[in-house]
Amino acid sequence: MQTLSRPVANSIGPRRQSRPAMPPMLRLIGRTPLVPLYFRPENLTVHVKVEFTNPSGSIKDRLALHLLTNARQKGLLRPDSVILECSSGNTGISLAMVGAALGHRVKILMSDTASVERRHLITHFGAELHLFKTTRGYVTGIELAEKMAAEDPRFFLTRQFANPLNAQDHELHTGREILAQTRGRVDAFVSGYGTGGTLQGVSLALRAANPDVQIVAMEPAEAAMLSGEAPCCHSIEGVAGGFVPPLLDGVKIDAHEPIRSADAIAMAWRLAREFGLCVGPSSGANVMAALRTAARLPRGAKVVTILCDRADRYYSTRLFSQASPSV
Ligand SMILES: Cc1ncc(COP(=O)(O)O)c(C=O)c1O
Repeated sequence: MQTLSRPVANSIGPRRQSRPAMPPMLRLIGRTPLVPLYFRPENLTVHVKVEFTNPSGSIKDRLALHLLTNARQKGLLRPDSVILECSSGNTGISLAMVGAALGHRVKILMSDTASVERRHLITHFGAELHLFKTTRGYVTGIELAEKMAAEDPRFFLTRQFANPLNAQDHELHTGREILAQTRGRVDAFVSGYGTGGTLQGVSLALRAANPDVQIVAMEPAEAAMLSGEAPCCHSIEGVAGGFVPPLLDGVKIDAHEPIRSADAIAMAWRLAREFGLCVGPSSGANVMAALRTAARLPRGAKVVTILCDRADRYYSTRLFSQASPSV
């Protein structure tokens, strides 16, 4: 196992405090494209931030890189540390990948309902996987992670649901990239929430540039908690994990768009067939919500949303098992 890189003495001048070296492959994370999609029957355009181009295939690579490089710079990760997180899958895969590249052990706690592809990817990167049964969504996993960390000091908890670095990453990177790619002109930003990091961080960056930007929260219609519904079963993995996350506290949300799981999946199929975009259900739900937002705003409004991950981690789910519409 690779050990933490140490500061190297500078033979010419005084000792400088050097940062731990970053493996070059991690520079592939971020700087994702922003692509306009024109929907002919609706005569509407939405702009999608293509996060599945990150090396492990999802938006969560950004978070994993930001949390782990920050912890290394602060000296919080020792060679014997084990990174511990509760994840529905994407954060687990990203932490496993970035952890492997940085030479750290990773352990992921995941509900036994998460897709089998996600489990395979996590262990493929050499991380340990601990599956738990739950009827309370993420809450069970978060409590379990805290208990394990209290009992063994080698565990380093990244706490994606409470860590302010989560939203900071999206403010400094995802949000600022969107601003640069649109020359600061965004009328509405639409996103689902799992931890709430994307919604909080991107909205902070966009509101700083345009206080009138509309922030729209996509929620599964079956678990529209921001709209006061009780959490329930849905098929949009990665979002609405059974509670409104603390990272959404104080975020000014202008509108909620509830999307049914069946419509999210139908839109994911449509994105594949009409645009060649192979994405998961939450991306379909985001685009559906973005289209509805574009339809109610004045013509020509610039609406931006996120394509969170690739479809290839959903082969065993409804996205592929259900009969797709005939061509
Ligand atoms: C597929 C997918 N969509 C959306 C999200 C939501 O992102 P956030 O946790 O920043 O709210 C996640 C989070 O894991 C995800 O995996």
